[in-house]
Amino acid sequence: MIDKFTVRDARAEEAADIGGLNTRAFGCEDEARIVERLRKDGDVLMELVATMDDQVVGHALFYSVGVFQRLGACGLGPMCVDPWVQREGIGAGLLDYGLANLKAWGVPLVFVLGHADYYPKFGFKVSTTDPFDTPIKGPNFMAVRLRQGPPMAGKLIFPAAFGIPRSA
Ligand SMILES: CC(C)(COP(=O)(O)OP(=O)(O)OC[C@H]1O[C@@H](n2cnc3c(N)ncnc32)[C@H](O)[C@@H]1OP(=O)(O)O)[C@@H](O)C(=O)NCCC(=O)NCCS
Repeated sequence: MIDKFTVRDARAEEAADIGGLNTRAFGCEDEARIVERLRKDGDVLMELVATMDDQVVGHALFYSVGVFQRLGACGLGPMCVDPWVQREGIGAGLLDYGLANLKAWGVPLVFVLGHADYYPKFGFKVSTTDPFDTPIKGPNFMAVRLRQGPPMAGKLIFPAAFGIPRSA
């Protein structure tokens, strides 16, 4: 395990590095474009990087999720770690730091669309999404509840960057 990495807020001047990292980790530019659009639309709640020797090696973006006529929630993604340092605890470091911050801020829920065998390690469950209306159901759509209380149900409204139809 690597122990010499730092997790902190992303800086505006790191946008190109973060774009390159997303493209390397996902093997295409789709996620880098989503990151740019989320920023442009003002949908970012928290954007974190993991660095080693001042080099950006990990990235996690948390965005606002609307819950129709109710208190809102949060979504996670894209999230990635540079291929040469994957499976070294950096993803876990980003998630632990991000979820602790969100919990301290009183954010009730975090949704994610991602690897079904990765996110449950951090408390995400498919069943937590059951009461919510969304077109993106399935084994890869999970959520973790950080505090009890509203919203307990409702129609989810994702940022335009994801291109998810609102009427479905
Ligand atoms: C998925 C990703 C973010 C994980 O980050 P990471 O730094 O490699 O993961 P970590 O080292 O923190 O792993 C934590 C634990 O999850 C496991 N794990 C890592 N990647 C996994 C995966 N894809 N599926 C299942 N388990 C995984 C690790 O073995 C480790 O398990 P342990 O706690 O039992 O030892 C990273 O591999 C990545 O960027 N992948 C390519 C892009 C991607 O798929 N992003 C996520 C989109 S949903």
